[in-house]
Amino acid sequence: MKILGIAGSPRAGSTTEQLVKEVLANTECETEFISLAGKTISPCVACLGCVETNVCVLKDDMADLREKIVSADAYVIGAANFFAMLNGLAHCFMERWYQFRHREGRDVAGKLAVAIGVGGGDGDAPAKNIQTFFQYNQIECVDTVTAQGPACCFTCGYGESCKVGAIHLFYGPGTKITPKIIPSLEKQPEQVAAARAAGRKLSDRLKQFAQGT
Ligand SMILES: Cc1cc2nc3c(=O)[nH]c(=O)nc-3n(C[C@H](O)[C@H](O)[C@H](O)COP(=O)(O)O)c2cc1C
Repeated sequence: MKILGIAGSPRAGSTTEQLVKEVLANTECETEFISLAGKTISPCVACLGCVETNVCVLKDDMADLREKIVSADAYVIGAANFFAMLNGLAHCFMERWYQFRHREGRDVAGKLAVAIGVGGGDGDAPAKNIQTFFQYNQIECVDTVTAQGPACCFTCGYGESCKVGAIHLFYGPGTKITPKIIPSLEKQPEQVAAARAAGRKLSDRLKQFAQGT
């Protein structure tokens, strides 16, 4: 049984990546992790070039991911909250799963998954988007985990003075940026525990699945 973990955040080493890896590490299955950071994945252009074969005809980094998606038994997919929806790179990645669904294609349908959402405020919106994506693809979402990550305003250099940024919004004017207020998973033991529990749950469900129960 193999689980494919995908972090859709454009930031390498992101909170999304850490949380996806935490889920994977707590399964008793073979796992593979892929970050979409730095990858070129265009949106689906609705060309219908995949209808006959269930293989997308666009030539970019999604082509290499296709076989990994098809051969996996389960997925852990995470994305970041960008303007109260999942980030664009993750969205493009998901749109391209259109190639799997034509003419009773069963490449991903019937598989299991965990949804992960991370946001500067919270990760609820991307987590919900991913849950809906799983539902549309007939993938059973066995658990969902969300966490808070560091908004770019902590490191952009203007966070303390910018009146429209996350520091003013979440902590108020006059707030000094110190390591104490920068969100990280170490400060969210409940979310880390939830990720570990999700990994165990996915692993258990996969075993039941393999036994046909
Ligand atoms: C373009 C952009 C839009 C964002 N919009 C939101 C938002 O609407 N809500 C929110 O909670 N965080 C928002 N954020 C903050 C990110 O969700 C936050 O930095 C999070 O940690 C990103 O996940 P990552 O650490 O896994 O990259 C936004 C960040 C960017 C770059």
